[in-house]
Amino acid sequence: MRFKEAVEKLPEFKWGDTPKDKIVLKWGECQIQPPQSVVEEIEFAGKNCFAYPDPQKNEAYAALEEYTGFPRENLLVTNGSDKLLRLIPECVIEEGDSLVSMSPTFPVIESAAELAGGITRKIPLEAGKGFKLPLERVLEEAKDSKIVYLANPNNPTGNLLVKDEKNLRRILETDSLVVLDECYYEFSGISFAGLTREFDNLIVLRSLSKCFGMAGMRFGYSIASDGITKVLKRVEETVEPFDCSSISLAAGATALREVKYYEKERREIAGLRERLASELNSMGLECFASVSPFVFCGVSGISEGGNFAKRLEENGVVVKYYPNYGNFVRFGIPREENFEKVVEAVGKTCGELKGN
Ligand SMILES: Cc1ncc(COP(=O)(O)O)c(C=O)c1O
Repeated sequence: MRFKEAVEKLPEFKWGDTPKDKIVLKWGECQIQPPQSVVEEIEFAGKNCFAYPDPQKNEAYAALEEYTGFPRENLLVTNGSDKLLRLIPECVIEEGDSLVSMSPTFPVIESAAELAGGITRKIPLEAGKGFKLPLERVLEEAKDSKIVYLANPNNPTGNLLVKDEKNLRRILETDSLVVLDECYYEFSGISFAGLTREFDNLIVLRSLSKCFGMAGMRFGYSIASDGITKVLKRVEETVEPFDCSSISLAAGATALREVKYYEKERREIAGLRERLASELNSMGLECFASVSPFVFCGVSGISEGGNFAKRLEENGVVVKYYPNYGNFVRFGIPREENFEKVVEAVGKTCGELKGN
């Protein structure tokens, strides 16, 4: 009964179409093309897809050990990091427990906690201070909560919520389980995964979706103490031993060894991000500083957010609008060849909305 009520309360997502004839910058993806080595692995695994994937994920763990410097006892590979955002509350949250989360942030873990009988305590980020984390409020709420979720960098705002290890230590010392989502870590260059060696109430989440341009593959992983990893792995391997496809495991393992290639691609995207922010600012949007592969922008100087996104889509560019948050939209970063088209479409939209 409890489960049924929780399902009925889930937010109803209207995902919308992903039109092929428009430039889609809605999903916070990173438009990196795979290197030849990854393409070859995808082809090889595709030709052998009659076989189940390796339930031990040996290749993926070997590559991750090398990439992260952590042994496999501290690593768990899953079908995207979304899977971890679902699995963790399933294993931790009981009826009436609280999860602390921010507003705005990536909401998947909140729904998963609520399905497990939990309650979300939402803390607004300090919009006037560049979406800063209100640390004292987080510490207060964390004291009697089971989980604190921090996306670092945060989606959609693009900034780091935790820059300073000292602040994270204070949150960890509340004893709440801290889920630190480092899905965009390779863009920000800041990771606190090392603290998992000291704190067994820290789980760091990572993904190949964004920083390796592999959102379509579904490859996420966590870094945590032996104890937490064992519990999560036991549940995942019992309930869904073949959760990752053989194609994503092979492609992911190969991508993790192409460090230089991906670093170069990310540098290009970061350059395009800065160019885009400067163009958008010059047209009257208000872009917030981002260390992620997207830009969060206030559009109240132009129009109401939903209206802006709708008109921009009519002009060929699809961005994400936040109906529950205000007049903000999030732009993913276009590829170089689409850059001018995006700038033109925004210019046209601003002109139309201002009645020029
Ligand atoms: C902060 C954050 N965490 C997790 C995810 C989910 O990523 P994945 O594709 O690995 O499931 C996203 C995707 O947008 C995200 O922004």
